[in-house]
Amino acid sequence: MTTLRRFCCNDLLRFTSVNLDHLTETFNMSFYMTYLARWPDYFHVAEAPGNRIMGYIMGKVEGQGESWHGHVTAVSVSPEYRRQQLAKKLMNLLEDISDKVDKAYFVDLFVRASNTTAIKMYEKLDYIIYRRVLRYYSGEEDGLDMRKALSRDVDKKSIIPLKRPVTPDELEYD
Ligand SMILES: CC(C)(COP(=O)(O)OP(=O)(O)OC[C@H]1O[C@@H](n2cnc3c(N)ncnc32)[C@H](O)[C@@H]1OP(=O)(O)O)[C@@H](O)C(=O)NCCC(=O)NCCS
Repeated sequence: MTTLRRFCCNDLLRFTSVNLDHLTETFNMSFYMTYLARWPDYFHVAEAPGNRIMGYIMGKVEGQGESWHGHVTAVSVSPEYRRQQLAKKLMNLLEDISDKVDKAYFVDLFVRASNTTAIKMYEKLDYIIYRRVLRYYSGEEDGLDMRKALSRDVDKKSIIPLKRPVTPDELEYD
C-alpha cells in the first residue's frame, strides 16, 4: 500500500536513498526548507508500509500574467518502486494544485536532453517540448523545457513551441 502525503522536515533526513540516483539533483538544506515554507502544497512524498520513502515531488508556482505557472523542480522515484505509476500520481497531484487551487496557465519543467526515460514519461503525461535550452546543465548538456497547458489556458497559447533554441540567460526568472 502506498501513502501519498505532504513532505515534512523530517523526510529530509530520510530521503537520501531516492536522491542517490545520478539523474536526481540534490540541493542544500536551505533550498528544500525554502520550498517547504513557501510552497508546501507542491512538495509530496510517496511512502511504503514501514515508512520507507518511495519517491517525492517538489515544485512551486511562479510567474506574472499569462506566465503564471506551476513548476516541477524535482521528481524522483527509487529504482525498486519504478513503473508502478508513482511518478504519474505525484505529477497529477502537482498539476491539480496548479490548475484548481492556484489557477495557473501551465506546468513546466526542465529535463536533461539525454534523460530519455523521464522525457518518455512526460510525453506520456501530455507534456510537449516547448524549447531547448542550450548548455543549461553546468554549461554542458542541453535542457528541454517541457510544458503542459492547464484549463485556464483555453487557447493553449503556452504550449506553442519556440522555433529556435534559447540560452540560459534568455530564460525568465521570477
Ligand atoms: C522518471 C521517473 C521519475 C519515472 O518514475 P516512475 O514512477 O517509474 O514512472 P511511472 O511508473 O509513473 O511511469 C508513467 C509512464 O511513464 C513512462 N515511463 C516511465 N518509465 C519509463 C521507462 N523506463 N521507459 C519508457 N517509458 C517509461 C511510461 O509510459 C509509464 O507508463 P506505463 O508504465 O503505463 O507504460 C523515474 O524513472 C526516476 O526517478 N528517474 C530518475 C530521476 C529522474 O530522471 N527524474 C526526472 C528528472 S527531470
